Amino acid sequence: MLVNNASALGPSPLPALADYPLAELEAVYRVNVLAPLALVQLALPRLPGGASVITVTSDAAVEAYEGWGGYGSSKAALEQLTRVLGVERPDLRIYSVDPGDMRTRMHQDAFPGEDISDRAPPEDSVPRLLALIDGGLPSGRYRAADIAVAPA
Ligand SMILES: NC(=O)c1ccc[n+]([C@@H]2O[C@H](COP(=O)([O-])OP(=O)(O)OC[C@H]3O[C@@H](n4cnc5c(N)ncnc54)[C@H](OP(=O)(O)O)[C@@H]3O)[C@@H](O)[C@H]2O)c1
Repeated sequence: MLVNNASALGPSPLPALADYPLAELEAVYRVNVLAPLALVQLALPRLPGGASVITVTSDAAVEAYEGWGGYGSSKAALEQLTRVLGVERPDLRIYSVDPGDMRTRMHQDAFPGEDISDRAPPEDSVPRLLALIDGGLPSGRYRAADIAVAPA
């Protein structure tokens, strides 16, 4: 299994696209798009049939939130790479998964100075990510909140 989770938000506070420093946008794309593809290229020869590639994405890839154009467009590109990979490698399980809002450093950076204590801790997403890993769902994009978790 390969999990592409590492990600860069970009500048904080989030700049409007009109003001987005292009060198910083390039750095975001390097981390969020090129590095995951590089890891996929390294892993593919080592992944047996049925293995999974999990890419952690965001609702910012599909929704147009003010200030989220840099990070969101990088996640959109990452999702499209993931979709195409799913078609090119039907022998593997290729997933994008949106974990939902999580109380992490990145989330705090996205909302500087705001109280984010009402957001769920990242560990709340884990059972649903494990269900995706263990389940037989077809390749595609999933929201963690929609993934059923078997009762313990
Ligand atoms: N938090 C949310 O509300 C939310 C919502 C939707 C999606 N996501 C996604 O969830 C995933 C995890 O994010 P998070 O919220 O846990 O953010 P986080 O706390 O900021 O963690 C980001 C991780 O990415 C790593 N990383 C960043 N740049 C890197 C680089 N150049 N090389 C290697 N590692 C690098 C960081 O490593 P270091 O610790 O070493 O810096 C850190 O482990 C990301 O894909 C994010 O886009 C988060």
